[in-house]
Amino acid sequence: MTRHLFSLPRCLGIGLLGVMIGPACLQAQAQTMSATSSSAMPPGIERSSFGRLADGREVDCYRITNDNGIEMRVINYGGIIVSLKTPDRTGRLDDIVLGFDSIGDYLSETYRQANPYFGALIGRYGNRIANGRFTLDGETYHLPTNDGPNTLHGGDVGFNQRLWHVEPFSSAEGRGLVLTYTSPDGEQGFPGRLSTRVSYTLTDDNELAIDYRARTTRATPVNLTQHSYFNLKGEGSASVLDHELMINASAYTPIDETLIPTGEIADVSGTPFDFRQPTLIGARMGQKNTQLAYAKGYDHNFVLSKTHGQGDLPTLAARVIEPRSGRVLEVATTEPGLQFYSGNFLDGSLTGKSGRPYTHRSGLALETQHFPDSPNQPNFPSTILKPDETYHSQTVYRFSTTASEDLPHAD
Ligand code: GLA
Repeated sequence: MTRHLFSLPRCLGIGLLGVMIGPACLQAQAQTMSATSSSAMPPGIERSSFGRLADGREVDCYRITNDNGIEMRVINYGGIIVSLKTPDRTGRLDDIVLGFDSIGDYLSETYRQANPYFGALIGRYGNRIANGRFTLDGETYHLPTNDGPNTLHGGDVGFNQRLWHVEPFSSAEGRGLVLTYTSPDGEQGFPGRLSTRVSYTLTDDNELAIDYRARTTRATPVNLTQHSYFNLKGEGSASVLDHELMINASAYTPIDETLIPTGEIADVSGTPFDFRQPTLIGARMGQKNTQLAYAKGYDHNFVLSKTHGQGDLPTLAARVIEPRSGRVLEVATTEPGLQFYSGNFLDGSLTGKSGRPYTHRSGLALETQHFPDSPNQPNFPSTILKPDETYHSQTVYRFSTTASEDLPHAD
């Protein structure tokens, strides 16, 4: 199954931009890829209306298909992946991500209260920053605290709630979208004007490659990620506790009761956090364990084991198998961390696009990222981007199926 795994070096949707991000780069890209004007779409991409925001701005929905029938729909609001259909082992297509079919559902009060970030791009800072503050170059910055005492996923109005500029493209690697958003200096308390560019590429190898780049005018923390929730039985199905998960990590970062890392890098051996061998997600969920109790399940950052000799290429971070459908999801990344969130805050109050409630743990997120609260944690890899640098991160989700006899054994 690891055949051509994440043979991505050809830099999907990347490489075209060198070090600059901005309109000039997008123009350069338009010349390289068969990018499109607003009226003409490349083959395999269609655009339709997804409704309007309260201020009247139009929300567009892009439907992207590959040669094998995989279909993904993305909106320019939050860069949200609203649906993703992949085949099971018999070829039957099901939508494997949680989400909605109308913008109203993403804007509703119930959704804001639940705040699950379904399918969205997350920025400027994925996961939590303790007590909504950090100190950089002698100056202390204050951020909105939107998760108890902490800042979560970029503050009150993160990138998940911004309208992104979208350019569809078709290239040798596949077809997809380039999304750009410029976050003004001081937005949500963060220093520097941050020019952000994210590309989604759907390949004919059944991969969704995500490439993130950013530039800043002042030193600032950056930690971008994607917050899709997967249920490989199909969205709206019951819990993901019966999915088998492998995480390529021999350590994780334990948290306190507000889900902020303690700073420790802990060995997973002998704990419910050891997913080095494929294990049912539910197998150890009920164990008496302080970490599981704090998070009400899994909501932890795993310290990924990097394969030597891979340079800056994405390496395998996780594999999820749903035995009944045979669907397999593999995740590779250049990032050092992976937040595995087992949908603990889903409680059935949101009803998905097929009319079924999203019940407790009916979706799981695998968020590739730097570690939570890094701006306040001196022993974690730095998340500070300086004006002379380019933030660059790549993650690949690969969709396949497995025959039942190939299934690994859970503990
Ligand atoms: C991340 C966090 C979780 C939760 C979800 C969104 O995964 O770590 O605690 O906030 O986002 O609901």
